[in-house]
Amino acid sequence: MILNTELEYKGDLFPSNIISFTKDVDTLHFYASNGVILQMTIVRDSVFRFRYTTTGIFDEDFSYAITKYASRGYNELEITEDDEKYIVTTAKLVCHIHKADMRKSIYDVNDNTLLSQDELGFHWEESYEFGGDIVKMSKISQDGESYYGLGDKPVHLNLKGKRFENWVTDSYAYGKDTDPIYKAIPFYVGLHHRKAYGIFFDNTFRTYFDFAQERRNITSFWAQGGEMNYYFIYGPEMSAVVENYTDLTGKPHQLPPLWALGYHQCKWSYYPESKVKEIANTFRELKIPCDAIYLDIDYMEGFRCFTWNNEYFPNPKKMVQELADDGFKTIVIIDPGIKIDPEYSIFKEGLENGYFCKRADGPYMKGKVWPGECYFPDFTNPEVREWWSDLFRELIEETGVKGVWNDMNEPAVMEVPGKTFPNDVRHDYDGNHCSHRKAHNIYGMQMARATYQGVKKYSYPKRPFVITRAAYSGTQRYTSSWTGDNVATWEHLWIANVQAQRMSMSGFSFIGSDIGGFAEQPNGELYVRWIQLGVFHPFCRTHSSGDHGDQEPWAFDENVTDIVRKFIEIRYELLPYLYTIFWKYANEGTPMLKSLVLYDQDDTQTHYRTDEFIYGEKILVCPINEPNAKGRRMYIPRGKWYNYWNDTIVSGGKETWVDADIDFMPLFIKEGAIIPKYPVQQYVGEKEIEQVTLEVYYKEGKEKSELYEDAADGYDYIKGRYSLRSFTLVGRKDELIIQQHKSGKFITSYETFKIKLHGLPFKIQKVEVDNEEMVFEEVKMNGDNTLEISKEFTELHIIGENSSK
Ligand code: GLC
Repeated sequence: MILNTELEYKGDLFPSNIISFTKDVDTLHFYASNGVILQMTIVRDSVFRFRYTTTGIFDEDFSYAITKYASRGYNELEITEDDEKYIVTTAKLVCHIHKADMRKSIYDVNDNTLLSQDELGFHWEESYEFGGDIVKMSKISQDGESYYGLGDKPVHLNLKGKRFENWVTDSYAYGKDTDPIYKAIPFYVGLHHRKAYGIFFDNTFRTYFDFAQERRNITSFWAQGGEMNYYFIYGPEMSAVVENYTDLTGKPHQLPPLWALGYHQCKWSYYPESKVKEIANTFRELKIPCDAIYLDIDYMEGFRCFTWNNEYFPNPKKMVQELADDGFKTIVIIDPGIKIDPEYSIFKEGLENGYFCKRADGPYMKGKVWPGECYFPDFTNPEVREWWSDLFRELIEETGVKGVWNDMNEPAVMEVPGKTFPNDVRHDYDGNHCSHRKAHNIYGMQMARATYQGVKKYSYPKRPFVITRAAYSGTQRYTSSWTGDNVATWEHLWIANVQAQRMSMSGFSFIGSDIGGFAEQPNGELYVRWIQLGVFHPFCRTHSSGDHGDQEPWAFDENVTDIVRKFIEIRYELLPYLYTIFWKYANEGTPMLKSLVLYDQDDTQTHYRTDEFIYGEKILVCPINEPNAKGRRMYIPRGKWYNYWNDTIVSGGKETWVDADIDFMPLFIKEGAIIPKYPVQQYVGEKEIEQVTLEVYYKEGKEKSELYEDAADGYDYIKGRYSLRSFTLVGRKDELIIQQHKSGKFITSYETFKIKLHGLPFKIQKVEVDNEEMVFEEVKMNGDNTLEISKEFTELHIIGENSSK
């Protein structure tokens, strides 16, 4: 196989026949006669880990991606053999390991579907230049197989027929198909014969994935160093694959503070203080909800991290407090480059303690970023992370900053080939000393981790908020992320949609794009269409570069402002819904955005869809990606859906035209859903919530919905002080029953629900709450199928006039 490496190709080597094996609790070792060892761990009954060594000895088993808990093995393992192969069986899978050549085939234990089959399987090329191996794996692409995942790739959701590289890269104004860009998430999902499995190649070197591009029926992945070390994760549901991957690489360590799910406003840069205040005041004057305002690099003194420009910001603490009094949380940028300046305390400390990265022969890694020549902390050293985390004390504890934005952490270096560190730079890698070839892809992750530790420490007892540009698998444990320096074009609106969905199916749901585009300037129409999409992304922030004009909701015309307000208000109304899906993500790893294929993989029509997605579990969203549109054709997934704007019901499983003039977008609610809503607030916590509206969408049949709430910040929820309400809706021809099951110790501020019934096919004769008939006054039955009841109800029974009950 001819591989796209820069190195001279010297021929592939292969394992020879297996001569013996050993078994302990959850791990098998297969020994080939030429010294290759395959280590196979049964991590779960649906998760295998495969590692290979060509030297007879494995590297220290260390991963930044895998959580300790998840890598703990499974303790039931069954192995048998026949003449040709070993057979390992679990409750979900069967794996054959062929004695002749170590190749593997994996089957579904129930129906023997062949899920994954090695073609050449593991093979390698020795690397003369760097030592070690270029490790490779090739598999047969099954009939009709599709591929998804890989983080932030700005390409069609289905990866089939394409080749990709994972090398975290600063990619200003990248475009459709640019590869690689900011993130390295070497995880993909394969789907064929209605069954989905995932592969996570936990190798931080430059990795490549080929999805039947070089050869039509072969999929392969390889790395420029390190071990062939990968996880095979079985579904068969794609959602289960993603959940298991997220479990392996870690779910967010805590819920975000609720305000972080509000709307954020950013620009490069808002300064001086009067400008920041003017922006904040305008939000309040125009009544456009907003929770956070960002300070980009110009708040610093000569771009020195952890300093303030006193001319622009004479009293940061006072300003941050005044903004806070008006509901704004201040978020500041912190980059990795530390300005070389003997007068600058952070530089001095870093230097004195040996915290900066060095080149192979000893000089410091020197590179140009915003402040000019810089040195860079080695965030792969735990001592450096500790030091770095302490640097946030003043910003967070003293000044009152509420969140930190990590940027340029690929790491980006200006005016040099490759725009990053050279390969020879040395890293601690938590005691597994290595070069930048191995540490590059996790550098940004470790910076975000150190930042997270600091922000968390000093925000306590409140929750931290961090955002990062660079990421490797597992970064979702610490931080949110955005998709980097996009452009104000219609194509980029499409890209933003695909990237957010792809990140979500790659275990990283807390994601959004620079709304409106970072480079260049959108017109009002593009900005509106982008906001419409952005309010349905878990992270929702307008950001733009300074040199292309203004990009606030009022920077266009009044009509734009009004539509933007309308959509941001929808985001704020849906906050309890968004918080509930975040809780599900943090708890179970459930992706917050579901591409249609993730939502309904059995419907092959979904396999090549890109635009439509499910926000959480119940809301179908489809952005308008073109100028002058009065609507669009879109695919409605199977089942019945209510048009959000007019309650008309459509049956899915087909493409349909949907009207959506500039002040609308295609939005549908799954029938049977119960969607919780808060009143519109200008910022989270502006109002005490006195009533929650439950939008109930009638269905003939059964449907479950959930509502999760807690104090919206702090850690009491971990001690059980949360409120989880599970609703079961059962609709029949002449009645509708909603049962509520409550758990948790948190007492919500409101006492009542306002129930809004949509699509009820009968006229109401009477209403019973917990088996007692309520007179209409008591339930405050209104003419428009709206009623108010106590939040404590167990069963709400709505009985139609033709019912015999
Ligand atoms: C990078 C970031 C961008 C930021 C700019 C200045 O380009 O991606 O978001 O505004 O640097 O800090």
